[in-house]
Amino acid sequence: MALAQYLAELETLVADAARAFSAADGALTLEAARIEFLGAKSGRIKDAQKGLGAVDKADKPAAGKHFNDAKQAIEAAFTSAQERIAAQGITEPGLAPIDLTLPGRPLRLGRLHPLTQTIEELKEILGRLGFTVADGPEIEDEWHNFEALNIPASHPARDPLENFYLATAERGAGGPLLLRSQTSTVQIRVMEAAKPPVRIISLGRVYRPDTADDTHYPMFHQIEGLLVDRHVTMADLKSTLRLFAAAYFGGDVHIRFRPSFFPFTEPSVEVDMSWHDRWIEMGGAGMVDPHVLQAVGYDPEEYTGFAFGLGVERVCARRHQVTDIREFYKNDVRFLRQF
Ligand code: DAH
Repeated sequence: MALAQYLAELETLVADAARAFSAADGALTLEAARIEFLGAKSGRIKDAQKGLGAVDKADKPAAGKHFNDAKQAIEAAFTSAQERIAAQGITEPGLAPIDLTLPGRPLRLGRLHPLTQTIEELKEILGRLGFTVADGPEIEDEWHNFEALNIPASHPARDPLENFYLATAERGAGGPLLLRSQTSTVQIRVMEAAKPPVRIISLGRVYRPDTADDTHYPMFHQIEGLLVDRHVTMADLKSTLRLFAAAYFGGDVHIRFRPSFFPFTEPSVEVDMSWHDRWIEMGGAGMVDPHVLQAVGYDPEEYTGFAFGLGVERVCARRHQVTDIREFYKNDVRFLRQF
């Protein structure tokens, strides 16, 4: 065979191979092209190598060199097609490219509502201080919501416009029914059921017909605390609340006590927490009023106690720098996801 003819055959071979490899659009077509041209047994390169034998003797060295060049060119075309397909993430012909380097789509895990998380944490912190959790009904009677708490019928807090009375003729053992306006009701229920010493907290919903704004909502949560024993003093109350604040806020939130008035405590204090250069209300507290102890059959000469009631939304908002407690009730996952 003349050299020129052999070289023409090589040229066709290289061109065919280049076309086949650049047309490959997936692992399968690439492999088919590889077998056609580079296959060890009957690939076309193999044939061309055999064809060398037919070239005129004097032209063999030149033909051999051209054969090697052609083989390298075809191998290079294969390698680049292989890299192209890998980079595009093409695994099968006809499938859209998949970029394997893209981050996966994260599975969104559900989580507890921030207020639920807060309630669990408050229970845990006060549990470490020896308080056990007590529960009470959200539908209450006037005895537990007012009367036993030393809030007489004439008190403005009992105004029907300030409370959610139920539109029902049904009455509890202690009078007309209403949605409880405070968790202090649980103090009475616990003391009616047990003798001192008492050391409980109670967390739950309370209801007041307030217009919603950044610090109010017609339904919110309180944490109530009650400790009754011999020799309990105001110092115990203050240190308990300070320990609580340090544990929950982590030391950078200060609390202060201001003289105040509640019918069921004497003396009473309002508890504030610092926020930037302001003080915001966290709740109320005080020494259990002797009338309350008497109402549940405790002897006020023998026992004293302290009580506190804090706003769960407020402490949670303070801790997480939430400036509007209505956010807690919008059920906007973009807000909730942050907790
Ligand atoms: N019950 C009060 C309120 O709803 C808060 C409160 C004040 C609770 C003083 C207490 C207390 O236990 O001692 O505003």
